[in-house]
Amino acid sequence: MFNDAQSPAWTPLLEAAWKARDHAHAPYSHFQVGAALLTASGEVIGGCNVENAAYPVTLCAERGALSAAVAAGLQPGGLVAAVVVTDVAELTPPCGACRQALIEFARDLPVLLANRHTRQLHRLEALLPHSFTGGHLR
Ligand code: THU
Repeated sequence: MFNDAQSPAWTPLLEAAWKARDHAHAPYSHFQVGAALLTASGEVIGGCNVENAAYPVTLCAERGALSAAVAAGLQPGGLVAAVVVTDVAELTPPCGACRQALIEFARDLPVLLANRHTRQLHRLEALLPHSFTGGHLR
């Protein structure tokens, strides 16, 4: 289902991501990003980037969505799929910090990148190979 970028299973996630993107607070970069996560309990949770006048305080759309999902009860292993949308020609992959944040909850997470015209499907583990995990702390 989430192995195919064209599967209709992505539709609710894409809708949630575009809707969240409408609320992006991006007055500095003017680069609006939307994200959506599907959890094992069937919830679709959106997020948008939230910029700040103190630039490094900015939160990416993916980590905003992740934070909301955890607050809604997401447990490690409980992420099913993720979507990132932007309205620019080049698809936007999650930044390094967001890859690290997401991989804590699902190693093989399917991540769909989309704009208005095209889609590209990745696996999180391929986007962040040899990642640092809780196992390294033991
Ligand atoms: N941004 C995201 O929200 N997600 C990404 O995957 C890449 C970058 C945001 C952060 C900032 O508000 C703007 O895009 C420009 O970097």
